[in-house]
Amino acid sequence: MKILIVGGGGREHALAWKCAEPPYVDKVFCAPGNAGTAREDKVINVAISPEDLERLASFAEEENIALTIVGPEAPLVSGIVNAFNARGLKCFGPTKEASVLEGSKVFTKDFLHRHGIPTGKYKSFSDISGALNYIKDCEFPLVIKADGLASGKGVFITSDLVEAEGVVRTILSGNKFGEAGSQIVIEEFLDGEEVSYICMTDGYHCVPFASSQDHKARDDGDSGPNTGGMGAYSPAPLLDSDLEHRVLEEIIYPTLSGLREEGKLYKGFLYAGLMINSKKQPKVLEFNCRFGDPEAQPTLFRLKTDLVDACLKTLEGDIGELQLEFDSKTALGVVLAANGYPESYQTGWSVKVAEKASGLKDLKIFHAGTAVSGDAVVSTGGRVLCVVGRGDNVREAQKVSYKGVDLVESSNLFYRTDIGYRAIARLKSP
Ligand code: AMP
Ligand code: GLY
Repeated sequence: MKILIVGGGGREHALAWKCAEPPYVDKVFCAPGNAGTAREDKVINVAISPEDLERLASFAEEENIALTIVGPEAPLVSGIVNAFNARGLKCFGPTKEASVLEGSKVFTKDFLHRHGIPTGKYKSFSDISGALNYIKDCEFPLVIKADGLASGKGVFITSDLVEAEGVVRTILSGNKFGEAGSQIVIEEFLDGEEVSYICMTDGYHCVPFASSQDHKARDDGDSGPNTGGMGAYSPAPLLDSDLEHRVLEEIIYPTLSGLREEGKLYKGFLYAGLMINSKKQPKVLEFNCRFGDPEAQPTLFRLKTDLVDACLKTLEGDIGELQLEFDSKTALGVVLAANGYPESYQTGWSVKVAEKASGLKDLKIFHAGTAVSGDAVVSTGGRVLCVVGRGDNVREAQKVSYKGVDLVESSNLFYRTDIGYRAIARLKSP
């Protein structure tokens, strides 16, 4: 059987590695993949852009691909699943219509409101003067978001009126975000701790992945600018069974039924970004129509179930009995990013990993922005590697990960030194 993974980041390396495991899988193609996928057993990189939907579909037809799994949001929002389905090809992810849940923050806030699903208070605007008038009476901090896809750069937490006015003008003037900035959501600031709730769904049932939490801020102590994610761990002790029950009953199932009522059957990975307040009430911050990155790296490192089989069953609607099984150990991933990330950064730096790393069973180094250059590996993106360690608890997993980080040699990378600190603080023994 042949599989195709669309994308070339750390999440896609984890997906490709996991899909290559079953003995009945002969080849996993990764479009375009990275230096990590290039070196993985059975995995072959293909130089096709994740945005080139028709070329990807033609490749899948020619190679007789049994299952395509889409990593990033952009091709999903552009309709890759529709393009594949039109040719009778199996593609794991929501359709263009259902991916609007990530593609438009205005749609999602209105949808949550229509279906009584808990989220922060908000108002949306397309005109600068209406927005400026509204924020005059708002409390700060105040959150302002561009409507469309902005690679994690379209959310601003503003602390006073002057800053908020600047953000409103920047987004709605259309210069910085283009069409994605034609509307904005202005939203109350929610206090609490974030958790990523990720599941597989056929549009009716929900099969949860193990819980996970990521660290979105660039610097230690969750400070500094927002990034795509500087590290993540699984499980997240914050999500106990009571809270999970609430998340399913108040958020996930009403979302799936609301989407069905609106003619948008949702199949694929569904990622709810949740804020949990001090009373343990969950509220939706956002939905993503894909797996999280870097949540995928530690979560899939723990997954024992055959992911290819689980995706095929989900697409066939045969999900009722499906359960995902996870290693009881904790996994924790530390992202190594290029100096300057998430703002401007340089690429083309050599990245070396000591050979010893591949022999350690509790360590896995997933690549993200890397490419093979002759015999060497060079950086090609902002997030370059995600070093995942596994241990009996989060403290042990953290130790393994940071020892793994020491096996990486590159002069232009930085990383946070405190990934998992909230979960470590929750451990009972010192
Ligand atoms: P989003 O892409 O909407 O999840 O926003 C990116 C990040 O901004 C989230 O992961 C939060 O850390 C933060 N954020 C977004 N909305 C809010 C909010 N209403 N209150 C507090 N933080 C928020
Ligand atoms: N880790 C955040 C995301 O995947 O959007």
